[in-house]
Amino acid sequence: MHYGGDYNPEQWSEDVWAEDVRLMRTAGVTLVTVNVFSWSVIQPRESIFEWEWLDRVLELLHENEISVDLATGTASPPPWVSERYPGVLPQDDGGATLWPGSRQHYAPTSPDYRRLAATLVTELAARYHDHPAVVMWHVNNELGCHTPWDYSDNASAAFGRWLEARYQSIEALNKAWNTVFWSQRYADFSQVLPPRKAPSFHNPGAVLDFKRFSSDALLELFIMERDIIRAAGATQPITTNLMGPFPPGDYWKWAAEMDVVSNDAYPDPNDPEAFRSLAFASDLMRGLKPDKPWLLMEQSTNAVQWRPSNARKQPGVMAAWSIQSVSRGADGVLFFQWRQSRAGAEKFHSAMLPHAGPETRVFREITALGDDLRSLPKLGIGSRARAALVFDWDNLWAIGDEALPAQLDYNEIVQRWYNAFHRQHIGVDIVNPRSDLSGYDVVVAPLLYLVSDQSAAHLSAFVEGGGHLLVSAFTDVVDETDAFRPGGYLRTLGGTFGVRVEEYDALVLPGTDGPGFRSATLDSPAGPLVGTFLVDEIHAVTADVLGRFTDGPIPGAPAFTANRFGSGVGYYLATIPDDAGMTSVVRWVAEQAGVGAEFSGLPELVEASRRDQHVFFINHGATDVWLDIPTSDAVNVGVERVYLGPQEWTWLHRP
Ligand code: GLA
Repeated sequence: MHYGGDYNPEQWSEDVWAEDVRLMRTAGVTLVTVNVFSWSVIQPRESIFEWEWLDRVLELLHENEISVDLATGTASPPPWVSERYPGVLPQDDGGATLWPGSRQHYAPTSPDYRRLAATLVTELAARYHDHPAVVMWHVNNELGCHTPWDYSDNASAAFGRWLEARYQSIEALNKAWNTVFWSQRYADFSQVLPPRKAPSFHNPGAVLDFKRFSSDALLELFIMERDIIRAAGATQPITTNLMGPFPPGDYWKWAAEMDVVSNDAYPDPNDPEAFRSLAFASDLMRGLKPDKPWLLMEQSTNAVQWRPSNARKQPGVMAAWSIQSVSRGADGVLFFQWRQSRAGAEKFHSAMLPHAGPETRVFREITALGDDLRSLPKLGIGSRARAALVFDWDNLWAIGDEALPAQLDYNEIVQRWYNAFHRQHIGVDIVNPRSDLSGYDVVVAPLLYLVSDQSAAHLSAFVEGGGHLLVSAFTDVVDETDAFRPGGYLRTLGGTFGVRVEEYDALVLPGTDGPGFRSATLDSPAGPLVGTFLVDEIHAVTADVLGRFTDGPIPGAPAFTANRFGSGVGYYLATIPDDAGMTSVVRWVAEQAGVGAEFSGLPELVEASRRDQHVFFINHGATDVWLDIPTSDAVNVGVERVYLGPQEWTWLHRP
């Protein structure tokens, strides 16, 4: 179990380093990430490299038995880079340059940026590939965090090349994007621009491809650095820190290139449901590489400084959230950063060692967490659940389009479906539409608007083989170019769900005012449900109608159907339920598939999650709880009732 954080000793004089390592040992730190933002210190000019300070840092850490996750330092180019090569700077969609003065001011596709980053990494890897302190490599930092979408001329040229590789001929692109509409027909790939600020809606097929291209451009940076590190002879695992369900990066594709998945997580302590979004991000990380533990690479010990109002974490919250990551498959808990900065943009960001020193609540909690992590039992790899939830970047991007029947926030809606499982303590894995689904009994695929022929065949085969698949409104609407298939909607999954979709209708968006239907209630075997956002007008073909709309735009129309298909069942819910509705429908469909809670009778604010042979319980609520432990499990813990105060946690061995 790794424990530590980003360590930026270049901010401090060397006498402070000695105190750092002494206090790191007190806190039980085992791993620090070094060199994330030191490019300007290592290479003050293009022709000069200064490594001696970093040699001394690595030596000091090694002498003190603290391992290093060595960052490549490419996330923030020094001033000479943009002074000499102004073309490295990215541009926004209005053509405004994003200037130096903060960080991440580079166009991922800039040949100069790539060459200079490659040189830095080549030198770094040659020097430290076999350093005994280095146990991991950390490429760049939060790739795409501030500048995920670049519209510069470099991006434009690279986008053209990417499109040419994808479509081979400009005719194929014209067909895929239906460019004949609004007179957009291209004669050559060089005419295609990134979706810069335009008078009205962009071509949705073009925007979708631009998002795919932008994700690939960032991934290329990772691959470039990774290959340089390997070529130098380094054998340690190589990672880059991801950011949960980060909209700009298709992490399914990225994770396949990474040795270890690592994540940065900064939920808002003021959000009462923050622990559920954190659980979702953790389960996503576990899903990205299900056969390996992942690392919580960054979180804050206390407040951040980048929200309009930055609440502290209440006592115990930092530990409870850390243990939650462990319970969901993390083999390491790290923070940004070790010592709070004295100046600079993040001076108010909390750290493991606060500005007020070690005699503080935060440092006491950090030391206690170090002890707790050391005393955990040996944990297996995160286990596979019986339920799965589909999360897919193509759909996130396509649903982000502005010209749809209703504005939908893909991440928000998928998170709410996840919460429905989480609230009921039903373990769920995060998968994509191409994942191996054998072994799952129930799969929920919310907002599966875009579906490729292969994904559709894959999901159908899951149902045919005995699985229970639930989809909601706006499913199987377009192909992977964001175009309707000929002949109507639900063209690839119609047989699986046994329904025909005629039309979509929008309700008044939740939280907004305006004339029209605010919701559409339906009857269902899971009880009455309140539908929001959309209603689909569907007709049962082979499906049984389980429930009908009782109000809204189409009272009496089928709203919830079940279709026996092979040995499984496809459920179509023709709207998007509110939170209570999601909870009921998830419970009901899971029951039909024989899937229940990991533990019954728990309060909603007590989380129960299984990691291999251990079940962890965390009380996220503000009140004390007593957990009744079933007699068979009580043998392991020695008691039949366990008390958990607010933010307290425990685990039991449950093979
Ligand atoms: C990100 C970055 C860190 C730091 C934190 C602050 O995670 O990787 O360098 O800026 O945010 O929350």
